[in-house]
Amino acid sequence: MGLIPQDVINQVVGRSDIVEIIGQYTVLKKAGHNFKACCPFHHEKTPSFVVNPDKQIFHCFGCGVGGDVFGFLMRQEHLEFPEAVRFLANKAGVVIPEEEQYTSSPSRQIREDIFKINNLAAGFFHDLLLKDRTEEAKRGRDYLKERGVDLETVKKFQLGFAPNEWDALLKYLKSHGYPEERVLAAGLIIAREGKNGFYDRFRNRIVFPISDVQNRCVAFGARALSEEQGAKYINSPETAIYTKGQHMFGLNRARQVIGQMDKIIVVEGYMDMIMPYIHGVENISASLGTALTVEQIRLIRRYTSNVVMLYDADAAGQAAMIRSLDMLIDEGMNVRVAALAEGEDPDSFIRQEGLEAFKKRIENAQPLLDFKFNWLSKQHDPLSVEGKSRISQELLATINRFKTEVAKYELTKDLARKLNVPENILAKQGIKTVVSGKDTNIEETQRRVVGFGRSAQELLLSLFLKDPAWVMAAKDKIGPENFSEGPVRTIVEEIWAKVDAKEEWSVSSLLIRIKDETLQGFMTRLVSIDDEELGDTARVFMDCIAKLQKDQQKEARTRLMEAIRQAERAGKKEELDQLKGEFNQLLKRSGV
Ligand code: CTP
Ligand code: MN
Repeated sequence: MGLIPQDVINQVVGRSDIVEIIGQYTVLKKAGHNFKACCPFHHEKTPSFVVNPDKQIFHCFGCGVGGDVFGFLMRQEHLEFPEAVRFLANKAGVVIPEEEQYTSSPSRQIREDIFKINNLAAGFFHDLLLKDRTEEAKRGRDYLKERGVDLETVKKFQLGFAPNEWDALLKYLKSHGYPEERVLAAGLIIAREGKNGFYDRFRNRIVFPISDVQNRCVAFGARALSEEQGAKYINSPETAIYTKGQHMFGLNRARQVIGQMDKIIVVEGYMDMIMPYIHGVENISASLGTALTVEQIRLIRRYTSNVVMLYDADAAGQAAMIRSLDMLIDEGMNVRVAALAEGEDPDSFIRQEGLEAFKKRIENAQPLLDFKFNWLSKQHDPLSVEGKSRISQELLATINRFKTEVAKYELTKDLARKLNVPENILAKQGIKTVVSGKDTNIEETQRRVVGFGRSAQELLLSLFLKDPAWVMAAKDKIGPENFSEGPVRTIVEEIWAKVDAKEEWSVSSLLIRIKDETLQGFMTRLVSIDDEELGDTARVFMDCIAKLQKDQQKEARTRLMEAIRQAERAGKKEELDQLKGEFNQLLKRSGV
């Protein structure tokens, strides 16, 4: 990712107007100081999407997304940050200096070479599959034909054939001027053990190029033609341009349709993506074995937040799916699970049953909780006391991952009905699971709590963001340590760092620094709190400061009291006297 100099980014921001940019995508209506529209990122009938021209931010009160003009373009145009900067620079007439001028590092050169090498290799394999006259290549063509892959598909996915030779690819790449060390860095050759020299990694296999969403070939997977060949699939190792679990196979082709349909079907394997795709299911991508990773989920979220999981019915597939589900919820995705029979996979299913049956399976996908309930019910008897207890424990932990109280409430109610247990008992147990659950952490809980109502900490931050003068007023009274760990504290720390360094800051500059989408949405929501809702801001300010100071004193008292108790127990007389002195002072200061 090219690093664009900060002053260029500032220039782009300075010459753009968020109202004008967003106005090109949706109809903005003036509403007081702000502009309103129906949110382009979720379906709604009454506008809850607000654009604030002063702060140059947007926020949707309906779905919670928010950010600056870059954040808007990243979502709307499905761009990465630097791409959004370039996109806007182009509109605003700002010239971005040639990339080489600011990044011509050796690592960049290596990455570019690997892209080129992969591209050449994909072409090499592809040509062989199409034209090579050897017996093996012919077998490769027959193999694909048997699996129902026609010429058009071979071309569309640039499928290839790796010849049954030790160094055909290496020779080819060398003839194009690439030294062995670069081909090695691309992961395409392997060093001979105990000898000099290298041999091709992929031999006598069907080759599937894996592309990133910018259509650049980042890696390969290669399938054996027969079982005697050992591993069914051999894949590229991690390289300077490829990290496992950061890409989705086929997403480069499917992303447009995924965005339009606002839904993705996630499958496991290469053929599980390709076969439904050529049968007309175009909103589909493959995770390539194992569970979905957070990176893959975030990649998907650039196009949609509605996911249908379609994994093999075998134990490995189901386990991978179960592992993916919690992570999907954490990332705020809507998940459903489609079922396949034992021994079926999406590839075999669509070939045998056809497109309509496939679509029906997808339509009938179960809500995530139903799927998990059924899965758990196979392991624990939902009619026994022990079973009810185990199932509810597991499911409540999952339910607690949902972001809104309403969702949690509804899901708990549903679970109570399924287990035939009174709601209030489950609700009680749910609270315990939050407190003692091993996979909840304080930050998470805090983020959830902060999502509702408005605490003093949030209100203060809202004031800071609306008008930096409040920061100066607060500076000698409180500091970041007065805020609990979590999003508010993170943002306050950023602000304090700027002020301490005597640097200028604004909501826009914070949004550029803080790229986490959840934090951005959180921040824009606080900026977008209606002034009327706040009422007398000076009053709010004083109250909030007082509350924070009081909380701090209370905490200090608790801490001192604990220290006193320990000193007493240990019989440390001197220390005890000193602590008691401190305690009295504290009481006097806080007027208790
Ligand atoms: N996989 C892998 N290495 C293996 C086995 C599997 O990388 N040795 C990955 C591949 O991406 C594969 C996916 O896991 O596509 C799913 O594996 P599996 O269900 O075993 O294979 P299929 O995709 O069904 O392969 P095929 O239809 O070609 O038999
Ligand atoms: Mn298969």
